[in-house]
Amino acid sequence: MAEKKTLLIVCGGIEAVHGIARAKEMDLHVVVSDRDPDAPGFAIADDRLIVSTYDAEATARAAGDYARTVRPIDGVVCIGADVPVTVATIAARLGLPGISLEAARLATDKLAMKQRFAERGVPIPWFASVESLSCLERHVAERGRDLVIKPVDSRGGRGVQRLNTNIDLALAFERAKAESPTARVMIEAYLSGPQVSTESLMLNGICHTPGFSDRNYEMLERCAPWFIENGGDLPSRLPEDVQSLVCDTVQAAGRALGIANGNIKGDIVVHEGRPYVIELAARLSGGYFCTREIPLNTGVDFVGCVIRMALGEAVSPCDLEPRFQRAVVQRYVFPEPGRILAIEGVDRAASVPGVDEIVVSARTGDVVPPATSSHARAAMVLASGTTYDAALAAASAAVNAIRITTAASPS
Ligand SMILES: Nc1ncnc2c1ncn2[C@@H]1O[C@H](COP(=O)(O)OP(=O)(O)OP(=O)(O)O)[C@@H](O)[C@H]1O
Ligand SMILES: [Mg+2]
Repeated sequence: MAEKKTLLIVCGGIEAVHGIARAKEMDLHVVVSDRDPDAPGFAIADDRLIVSTYDAEATARAAGDYARTVRPIDGVVCIGADVPVTVATIAARLGLPGISLEAARLATDKLAMKQRFAERGVPIPWFASVESLSCLERHVAERGRDLVIKPVDSRGGRGVQRLNTNIDLALAFERAKAESPTARVMIEAYLSGPQVSTESLMLNGICHTPGFSDRNYEMLERCAPWFIENGGDLPSRLPEDVQSLVCDTVQAAGRALGIANGNIKGDIVVHEGRPYVIELAARLSGGYFCTREIPLNTGVDFVGCVIRMALGEAVSPCDLEPRFQRAVVQRYVFPEPGRILAIEGVDRAASVPGVDEIVVSARTGDVVPPATSSHARAAMVLASGTTYDAALAAASAAVNAIRITTAASPS
């Protein structure tokens, strides 16, 4: 019997688990790397490397040692972690397929990325680097407060704030800076309008986008100045011509980063009918988009395609063609901030007809932070149906069934 191929998956976090399971189904020998020895993905991995996903050098060293002493590695991907530089470093070191280190670096530095997009004519919001509070004050004096301030290199919405909310500029600047590992801050014009998440695979410079979700920002005003996304809806309800403009924009963005073959995740805002790129990530999405929502919505095995590409196997455009369009609704559970005393109703939620997945990421004893980033989410619900209304009703019933009592909330 031929030896199984070996895939390294960088990240064993809860959002990687379905992807690791998919790799196992593909009859691969799966090695998972993560800093946390208790990472849930380790439970189904064949082998484990205990090393921080963000530490590209250390992970590449561990992967190199493994490949030399245990078995050769045939491909590397990351799932549920924004670490394309780690993946590109390993791919370059071990001679595996993957995007360039330059593309990976551009994709994790919002300022460098926006500069590249500006040079290549990809539509983006106006932006500027902000070195100091007085620099911020100068921009606000010139442009007004319809701006977003953010760390140049963070994730999960941490430190991203709207400035048109009476927020103190010094506080906003300090908060954004504190979330940047390199203490760098930028501002952008705030562009109103529907936001979408896209997930695509570039094949020989052509972008195929089976993942297209309307992001749910019903909590936007309540959580201001923070941007808290509460799941999403598929298929998109944007007009076909706008969806097609979004796909063209994502392709232009992927090409601008120099990604001819590779997967890209877009955060796009449709402002006054035209798409603008907020961000393009060079990795598989988190939040169950690639692992669960795309397959439920379209029947496309997106993670499987990305894994095959990482192993140097052929992926054809037909593999990325939606087989159907089933309504899918994702929502999150945001408990009151405080220490979790009890989590109840999960089985009841899971038994609601139409519910496909419940993931409870919080545990009793955890402290739920205030809703200032995606870290305030304690559970995720995914439901599907033949109509949007049916999927939404199922997701809402499941969210309502889950009761998470915190020390701060009345018990
Ligand atoms: N210029 C903008 N105009 C409108 N909305 C914006 C803008 N910049 C950011 N946002 C909103 O804030 C969210 C988070 O911003 P951004 O993607 O830059 O940060 P992040 O830390 O990478 O977050 P995530 O990991 O959730 O993508 C965006 O997905 C978008 O909804
Ligand atoms: Mg983003």
